[in-house]
Amino acid sequence: MSSESDIPSWSVDAINAVLQTLKLKDPFTFYHCCRVGRASRRLAKAMSLSEHEQNILEFSGLLHDVGKVGIADKILLKPDRLTDEEMTKMKSHAEMSCEIIQPLLQIPFFRFLLPGIRYHHEQFDGSGYPNQLSGEKIPLMARIIAVVDTVDAMTNTRPYRQSLSIERTHKELIDFSGRQFDGNIVKTYLEAQKHWKGIEEVDKEERVVPSVVSAIALKKAS
Ligand SMILES: [Fe+2]
Repeated sequence: MSSESDIPSWSVDAINAVLQTLKLKDPFTFYHCCRVGRASRRLAKAMSLSEHEQNILEFSGLLHDVGKVGIADKILLKPDRLTDEEMTKMKSHAEMSCEIIQPLLQIPFFRFLLPGIRYHHEQFDGSGYPNQLSGEKIPLMARIIAVVDTVDAMTNTRPYRQSLSIERTHKELIDFSGRQFDGNIVKTYLEAQKHWKGIEEVDKEERVVPSVVSAIALKKAS
């Protein structure tokens, strides 16, 4: 009997294939997705969410930006500020990530990924995109990914900006609690991350994807 938490091993292979496509297009976004997937699971665990919810968070984090394969290189890899028109195109990546996993929605588990992926750029005060949702109208999974996504983006250097220190990043999280982020999730994150030191370095290694997806596949098989 299949249940809504079942993740068939072939679907894990399919996800891995999607991620390898992203890696060829934009290695930075690929590694970012790997780190966000893993860190989202860690934060979900710290929030005492169930194993099922931790799986949802890990897969949503892994896939949240895969829609960037549909963004032209001249926009995605542009070293300068985007024009308004370019920014509009860039913002469509969250919807495109949902489109990419469309064929997997025949599996009940994958339907749970859509809210976290589609709404990961919504902001707590309603100033985000694509639907300007605010507060708890933003699905919980998306509010969690928003925190993890932002921390990862701020602590990594891009051609157009230097990375911020961990201290400065944490200050930003606090300053933007209740505006950009859910303050309760930020609080749990700041407390829990004290126990995660060193994990970020491991996440940067190439073998992270096989280890993330196969860990889930192995768990389901046992
Ligand atoms: Fe994104």
